[in-house]
Amino acid sequence: MTDLPPLRLGIAGLGTVGAGLVSLLRENGAAIAERSGRSVVLAGVSARSPAKDRGVDLSGIPWIANACELARSDAIDVYVELIGGEEGPALQSVEAALEAGKHVVTANKALLARHGIYLAGLAEKQGLALNFEAAIAGGIPIVKGLRESLLGNSISRVYGILNGTSNYILTRMQREKLPFDEVLAEAQALGYAEADPTFDIDGQDAGHKLALLAALAFGVRPDFGSIHLEGIRRIEPFDFDAAEELGYRIKLLAVAIQTEEGIEARVSPTMIPKTSALARVDGALNSVAVEGDYAGLIILAGPGAGARATASSVAGDIIDIARDHISPPFILPVSKLRQQTRPGMSSHEGGFYIRLSVYDRPGAIAAIATRMAEQDISLESIVQRRAPTDLPGFGRPGNGAQSTPVVLITHRTREERLRAALDAIVEDGHVSGIPQTIRIEAL
Ligand code: HSE
Repeated sequence: MTDLPPLRLGIAGLGTVGAGLVSLLRENGAAIAERSGRSVVLAGVSARSPAKDRGVDLSGIPWIANACELARSDAIDVYVELIGGEEGPALQSVEAALEAGKHVVTANKALLARHGIYLAGLAEKQGLALNFEAAIAGGIPIVKGLRESLLGNSISRVYGILNGTSNYILTRMQREKLPFDEVLAEAQALGYAEADPTFDIDGQDAGHKLALLAALAFGVRPDFGSIHLEGIRRIEPFDFDAAEELGYRIKLLAVAIQTEEGIEARVSPTMIPKTSALARVDGALNSVAVEGDYAGLIILAGPGAGARATASSVAGDIIDIARDHISPPFILPVSKLRQQTRPGMSSHEGGFYIRLSVYDRPGAIAAIATRMAEQDISLESIVQRRAPTDLPGFGRPGNGAQSTPVVLITHRTREERLRAALDAIVEDGHVSGIPQTIRIEAL
C-alpha cells in the first residue's frame, strides 16, 4: 500500500443500490484498498430519512440531509449519485459536485441520456471523472468494455436486452401462455415491477441505456430524443405461439446500428432467432452484444439490476478514480462527439412478422398478397390460422364475415414500403383492427 491519502466518498441516495454499495465497501474494503493502492472511505451520506433501517451499518458516517451540500463538501473527493431521476436533486447535485471539483460516479441513465453532454462538458473542463458503468445493464461491464478494451475496433452494431422487468414479463408470457396484464400484475405483486411500470415496459429505460451505448460505440452525442421507442403492451400470447412455430423468440431489443443514413436506434419488441445467444437470456437478466470489425461478436450477459450487481459496477468506477484512471465520459472530448443524424424508422431494413385479422371471404388473401407485391415486398411465408377465442379483434363483425388471424413473414424490405402496403391493406377493408407488426432482427 502506498501512502496516498484515503479516497473519500459521499453517497447520495440510500435505496437498494446505495445500501448495496455500503455493504460492498464494508465487506470488500480491504481488497479494494489493496487494488486501489489507497483506502476508500465513506465520508458522508445523504438520503431522505436518517432513521430508516436499510440493513447496513451507517454508524459514525456523517449524515448530510441536502445532497447538494454533500456534493460540494470539502470532506469528500468523489460524489456518488444514487438518487435517480433526470432532473431535480440528481441533476443539481451532480452539477454542484463537478463545479466544486469532485469526481462523480452515478448509476443514473435517465440523467445522462438527457444531460450527458452538459455534465461531460463540466467534468472535462476540470479533468474530473464522470463514471457510469452501473447506468447500463447493472453488473455487466459494458461501459469499460467499450471505453477501453474495444477501442481498437470500428463498431457496426450494438444491441441488447437492457430492461430486466420487461424481459421477465415476456419470458413469463412465453412460458406460461399468459396475457400481458396478468403477468404485469403478478410481477408487481412480487416486487419485480414498479407500481408505475411505464418506464420499464414502454421502452424508456432501455432507451436511456441505448442512448449511452450508442454514444460510446459510435462517438456521437447521447441523444435520447433520437431513439425510436415501442413497448411490450401490445404483444399477445398468440404472437409467442406463432414465434415459436417460426423459430423465433420475442424480446424487447434495443439496437443501435450504423447505416448509410446515420445511426438507427430503436427499442422495440423484436423477433430474434431461437438459436441466438440472446434468445436464451430469460427472466430479469440483461445482455449486451457488440459487433466490432476486429473483435467480432462480443456478448455479455448477467444481472441488469439489483443491489449487489449494481453496487459492483459502482465500486469498479470508484476504484478507477482511486487509481487515477480517468478518461472522458463518452470516450472523446465533448467537442469531438458528432451530432447524430436521425434516419428514423422509415429507412429501417429488415424482415417483419405481421399478424392480420382477415375477413374470411374469397379474394382476401390474394388482395393482401397483391398489396405486398406492389411495394416489391417478398413474402417468406403466409399462414392462415384458426382464430383463438381470446385474441382481441377476432370474431364476427357486423357484415357477417368471420375474421381469422393470418401471419405473414416478409423477406428483408424497407419499413416505409411495409407501412405503405399495410395502409393499403387496411384501406381495402379485408382486415379488422390494426395490423400487428414485429421487426425481425437477424442475429
Ligand atoms: N428497472 C430496470 C430494469 C433496472 O427492470 O431492468 C434499472 O434500470
